[in-house]
Amino acid sequence: MHVTALVGSLRHRSYNRMTYNAAASLAPDGLTFEEADIGSLPLYDDDLRAQQGYPPAASRLRERIAAADALLIVSPEYNYSIPGVLKNAIDWASRPPDQPFKGKPVAIMGASTGRFGTVRMQHHLRQTLVFVEALPLAKPEVMIPFAEQAFDADGRLIDKAAREAITAQLQAFVAWGRRLGGG
Ligand SMILES: Cc1cc2nc3c(=O)[nH]c(=O)nc-3n(C[C@H](O)[C@H](O)[C@H](O)COP(=O)(O)O)c2cc1C
Repeated sequence: MHVTALVGSLRHRSYNRMTYNAAASLAPDGLTFEEADIGSLPLYDDDLRAQQGYPPAASRLRERIAAADALLIVSPEYNYSIPGVLKNAIDWASRPPDQPFKGKPVAIMGASTGRFGTVRMQHHLRQTLVFVEALPLAKPEVMIPFAEQAFDADGRLIDKAAREAITAQLQAFVAWGRRLGGG
């Protein structure tokens, strides 16, 4: 099952990219990952799309999502919700024709420095995924609170519970993807 990953932080030392790297290293056999670039997208402008068509970065993103068997979204929580960078990417990818989220299995992970580990962002993201008809895995959830303590200086995930949650989620995700006919 080939997975396109969207990481909702552009920060160099992002805990969420570290989480993505941990997921790629903990993945069971048969699961491959590739991160899509969402940092070079312009801000969504429907005039731009209507008059000039999709900008190249948006077309690439749409193609990457369409070609994937499944999606992994790893994101921080900003002000109790989805970071603008990630929402902008979803908005670009979600427009017609052939919006590529429809029927796509999705796994969600998040790391935050706060105590709730992105729970509020994840609920808002699930709401958005309903509109685009994506099919997010319900459980196990991966929420990494107090992220400064969960990674070492080299960016490796050292929190045992978080590693176990990622491993369990990816195993369930393979089964979810198969059940939905992907992979
Ligand atoms: C604009 C902004 C809003 C934030 N809002 C929240 C929040 O609502 N909940 C939370 O737990 N952490 C919040 N944080 C802290 C983030 O969890 C922290 O910056 C985290 O490291 C971001 O993820 P990253 O390391 O992948 O960039 C916020 C940070 C920023 C920059």
